[in-house]
Amino acid sequence: MVTRHQVLVASNRGPVSYSLGEGGELTAKRGGGGLVSGLSAVKGDAVWVCAALGDGDREAARRTGGVLDASDTGGQQVRMLDIEPEVFSDAYNGVANSVLWFVHHMLYQTPTEPVFGAEFERQWRSYEAYNAAFADALAEEAAEGAAVLVQDYHLTLVPGMLRERRPDLRIGHFSHTPWAPPDYFRLLPDDPDGGVGAEVLRGILGADRAAFLTRRWAHAFAECCAKLLGAEVTTAEDGQFAVVHEGRATRIGVHGLGADGDFLRERAHREDVAERMAALREQIGSEPADNPRRTIVRVDRTELSKNIVRGLLAYRRLLDDHPEWHGRVVHVAFAYPSRQDLAVYREYTEEVSRVAGEINEAYGTSDWSPVVLHVKDDFARSLAAYRLADVALVNPIRDGMNLVAKEIPVVSDGGCALVLSREAGAFAELAEDAITVNPYDIGATADALHRALTMDAGERAERTKRLAAAATALSPTQWFLDQLEALRS
Ligand code: G6P
Repeated sequence: MVTRHQVLVASNRGPVSYSLGEGGELTAKRGGGGLVSGLSAVKGDAVWVCAALGDGDREAARRTGGVLDASDTGGQQVRMLDIEPEVFSDAYNGVANSVLWFVHHMLYQTPTEPVFGAEFERQWRSYEAYNAAFADALAEEAAEGAAVLVQDYHLTLVPGMLRERRPDLRIGHFSHTPWAPPDYFRLLPDDPDGGVGAEVLRGILGADRAAFLTRRWAHAFAECCAKLLGAEVTTAEDGQFAVVHEGRATRIGVHGLGADGDFLRERAHREDVAERMAALREQIGSEPADNPRRTIVRVDRTELSKNIVRGLLAYRRLLDDHPEWHGRVVHVAFAYPSRQDLAVYREYTEEVSRVAGEINEAYGTSDWSPVVLHVKDDFARSLAAYRLADVALVNPIRDGMNLVAKEIPVVSDGGCALVLSREAGAFAELAEDAITVNPYDIGATADALHRALTMDAGERAERTKRLAAAATALSPTQWFLDQLEALRS
């Protein structure tokens, strides 16, 4: 008998990934994040539908028929879709990460980019096919009237496609990114018969509820629907709003995902984190022992929207403007490579290393490296840096939320001053106790770093306490359960 599920999650990246050894053995690696804790809190029958992302995943999907071993997934039922590699690459690299990600983060150098030609047309057809594969699998797995929570810009067409296949379902869509304002969003091809921009909006409007991380992104989505589709935006007395298009209403929700305080505090005090703190202290150097060097910490995926290079240039400017910091501060920058199939990400990764190297070359001495850069992803080392940080630098050009800004205050040992971009979603909740910056302004960011470094220890501790409280206001589990409840109500 086929089990049909009451709760379904769909996302490109699933809760587990596999690597394939030389002898053909598969090793599973479990991921974390809000969806993992949320889904594990669901009582009853739930399943997670995701794509096979690499050779290991594909092999695992083939050997198991796509239904993964629960011991690899922490007990969660997972269905992994083995999508044809060319189709997957067009959809993931071509459309999702080179176009939709760039639109929502407003990353294009518009005099030359983007160029929508024959290549994009093919990629877009692949994106449709990849979304259809998810819609088919969800339609198969869902019990009558089940709740389906579709995630992110990879899967914008799924709600509409799934509604056609299964009108009985409750369908939600959640965007983890910012949403572009209409004047930027409309650079997507949009002709009278539909076009890409309109297809994306209509796809999401196939959901009963479309949700976002902040009100800012939710409003931008509604404005795009109004301007591009001529949809009506209605607001109820309690401030809840909806987008009405072709006779159907899609409710709009906001759920500001928070940091997982209990998990982080426990995890950050394990032995492996203590070991990494000792190693980092060694690298930072603490001369003289009674007045250790200050640390400015950043932790990011190396990704263009994170603005790592401008962060390094601001640090360089700090050293220029304030020679008193020479030998007294270290910028601990963890920049973990991501999406390396794309040249633009590879080039950015190289640029980060180059600029960090130039700063060390120009200012470093025999016993002081102004920048300590690590590029190998290591969660325990990230937590070690969080605990040590005097200052956290979170300066994205645009960011759906930015959980690093929320995690650092939670695990900080001695209090940490937060320098935060006004373009991060987290700004909506943390602005009051952060030092906020325009992410493009290198001089202002350098000034903010100086202010953060010279902040009185008492004030810093007080602010960190308030930041931690704001950052944990909505736990990942509650974030997920709230969405589920709102979808069912
Ligand atoms: C962002 C997106 C997620 C994505 C993550 C990592 O947070 O909103 O959907 O999974 O980046 O990116 P990747 O391309 O490695 O999955």
